[in-house]
Amino acid sequence: MNFGRVVAVIGSQWGDEGKGKLVDLLSEKANAVARYQGGHNAGHTLIVDGEKTILKLVPSGILHKHLNCYIGNGVVVDLAALLQELKMLVDKNIDVFSRLKISGACPLIMPYHAELDRAREQALGQAAIGTTVRGIGPAYEDKVSRRGLRLLDLTNPQKFTDKLAKILDYHNFVLKNYYNHKGFELNQLADQALEQVQDILPILSDVAADLEKHLHNKHNILFEAAQGALLDNDHGTFPFVTSSNTTAGAIANGSGIGPRYLNYVLAIAKAYTTRVGSGPFVTELFDEVGEILSTKGKEVGTNTGRKRRCGWFDMVAFRRSCLINSTTGICITKLDVLDNLPEVKICVAYKYNNKTIDSPLLDTDELARCEPVYETLPGWSESTARVKNFDQLPINAVKYIKRIEELSGVPVHLISTGPDRAETVVIQNPFD
Ligand code: GDP
Ligand code: IMO
Ligand code: MG
Repeated sequence: MNFGRVVAVIGSQWGDEGKGKLVDLLSEKANAVARYQGGHNAGHTLIVDGEKTILKLVPSGILHKHLNCYIGNGVVVDLAALLQELKMLVDKNIDVFSRLKISGACPLIMPYHAELDRAREQALGQAAIGTTVRGIGPAYEDKVSRRGLRLLDLTNPQKFTDKLAKILDYHNFVLKNYYNHKGFELNQLADQALEQVQDILPILSDVAADLEKHLHNKHNILFEAAQGALLDNDHGTFPFVTSSNTTAGAIANGSGIGPRYLNYVLAIAKAYTTRVGSGPFVTELFDEVGEILSTKGKEVGTNTGRKRRCGWFDMVAFRRSCLINSTTGICITKLDVLDNLPEVKICVAYKYNNKTIDSPLLDTDELARCEPVYETLPGWSESTARVKNFDQLPINAVKYIKRIEELSGVPVHLISTGPDRAETVVIQNPFD
């Protein structure tokens, strides 16, 4: 049987690599775009003709009027956040209600999840993970422990309220006795959720079945990851990770499409590295160059407004990302931010206990003690900003890109040279 092409856009670092921009760009050739994990901890920026749109839950293909968007069962949904985003899109005259479907199997993020997230972070003190305090972790915990509520539970108010009563009993006990919080009131929570879901009910769907139809119609499907591979709950810098699997492997579980349908995985990587929140970061810079990357790259969290930590490109971590995502091609973003630096560096190995190693250590404390081993390349003084043709890139920028290809063993298929959709060098479109 012949199907359309199925492409995944994956973050290969610690998130904020520019996934939203690339999904928006590649959506031109897609019929369907789907999210499969994470929640409103994501913040994906789209800029089209200077107009900015920030999406947290709705797939970044929504600006293209020809396609359908899906929120798969692997995404944890906060109704208030979703409604706010839908309103923002409606206000922009985007027909989101006719083109978006949400899986009824999505776990619900309830107000007590955000409160638990906050209370736990506070209790950790210096050891806090630096979560987005959106309740993501506690909501996924409730899914895995099989006590959580799902969107479809809201279709039966009595059943929903009965289930909520049991869960609330449990969470209120923890909140009151462990975190000194006053807890939540059942009727107030139930009424609020049942009211909020009214606008969502018409777009609840069986997303696995919807995607199957697209496959049979030979449509192109694009999957959009949130976060990045180094924040993956299994493969990332545990415990400084998110609570979902962020890698390509999670697409099957989080959407209901089988793993064999995936044709192409595009790893998005910034030309340098950033991280929001705590955890090891071997190539982090605390010097003037780090400041330049932060300022020029406008490295402030899209979602939480926190300052992002900045550093050089970490090839050791990136190679692992390419492996765990079975990466087909790379998109390097924010190349323009490196313009005018006298030299650029790639971390090609780590030094640990006087030994040189070329794969990341699994133990977070050990990883935090690794020192970067750099390869230094000459910088470029010509501007790469807004360049759309590969031939117009400065020779040293091309050398930098080629070195990333050589060291990773994966071809660079796209290069982003500015935040706008149009500011991109397309060497090979993953849908072609
Ligand atoms: P995402 O979470 O992976 O979608 O990325 P974010 O939207 O959180 O962060 C990426 C930031 O970089 C956004 O502000 C984008 O507008 C911006 N951006 C994306 N690509 C480029 C680029 O090539 N150059 C520059 N200067 N900015 C970019
Ligand atoms: P996008 O999709 C960057 C980070 C948080 C924290 C850790 C756990 O925009 O790339 P969580 O709230 O998920 O329990 O926080 O993960 N984090 C992100 N960092 N980009 C994101 O999303 C992130 N989503 C979560 O800062 O370190
Ligand atoms: Mg982001």
